[in-house]
Amino acid sequence: MILEAVGIEKWYFRKKGDGNRFFAVNQTSLKLEPGKIVVLTGRSGSGKTTLMNMMAGLLSPDAGSIQADGQDLYAMNDEELSRFRNRHMAMIPQGADVFKDLTVMENILLPQGIYPKDRPKGTDAAAEAQLLLERLGIAGLSGVPARELSGGERRRVCTARALAAKPDILFADEPTSDLDDESMNAVLTLLREAADSGAAVFIVTHDAEALTFADTSWRMNAGSVEETRGSTD
Ligand SMILES: Nc1ncnc2c1ncn2[C@@H]1O[C@H](COP(=O)(O)OP(=O)(O)OP(=O)(O)O)[C@@H](O)[C@H]1O
Ligand SMILES: [Mg+2]
Repeated sequence: MILEAVGIEKWYFRKKGDGNRFFAVNQTSLKLEPGKIVVLTGRSGSGKTTLMNMMAGLLSPDAGSIQADGQDLYAMNDEELSRFRNRHMAMIPQGADVFKDLTVMENILLPQGIYPKDRPKGTDAAAEAQLLLERLGIAGLSGVPARELSGGERRRVCTARALAAKPDILFADEPTSDLDDESMNAVLTLLREAADSGAAVFIVTHDAEALTFADTSWRMNAGSVEETRGSTD
């Protein structure tokens, strides 16, 4: 699936004395394609999460549109958009949000329980999830309540949850923050494998290492993006 942002904008009003509109994202166009990893870097506050959330169907743009295989995301009603997102998209959110009272395994399988997908015969969701946890170095945490996890462990659970859903489009907002080098590499390798299996992957990061996994890299500056081959800030 091709997901394309066309001239999108998001603005807010800030009481800074002048009462001016402030553009968190300004006239931005970006395309995500199957098999490709797009990496977006940029300083804190430059608009990366805002851009990602708009592309992920979580925040409607004030101008422009998001087209998924030519279908306008925000022309859908709430229920259609929700189904579409669950069918085609998954996200590793910047906040590494998990359900604290559920175990690690329950957190990972939850989205699949709510919106079941057809599974190839002979595959087992729990076994696949366990394999992901092993790759991410947290196999032993499967039955542990998420409230007991460290920040980096929580982030890897979100990574496993997103990958287990086998989305067409995978959004990862700083998936390697809080992680040591080995865990960071495990995460980036899994995201690369997801792309190689046909997903369109969008990574926001501050880690220079992620750029080596990118097919295209962009830098965001005060709400605008430009293509880059350079390093992170
Ligand atoms: N709901 C909101 N209301 C007002 N301003 C907002 C809102 N959400 C974001 N902003 C502002 O928009 C700008 C961009 O925020 P955003 O979260 O997209 O930045 P970011 O590049 O992801 O930063 P970071 O690297 O720190 O995560 C920031 O100045 C932020 O304060
Ligand atoms: Mg952010």
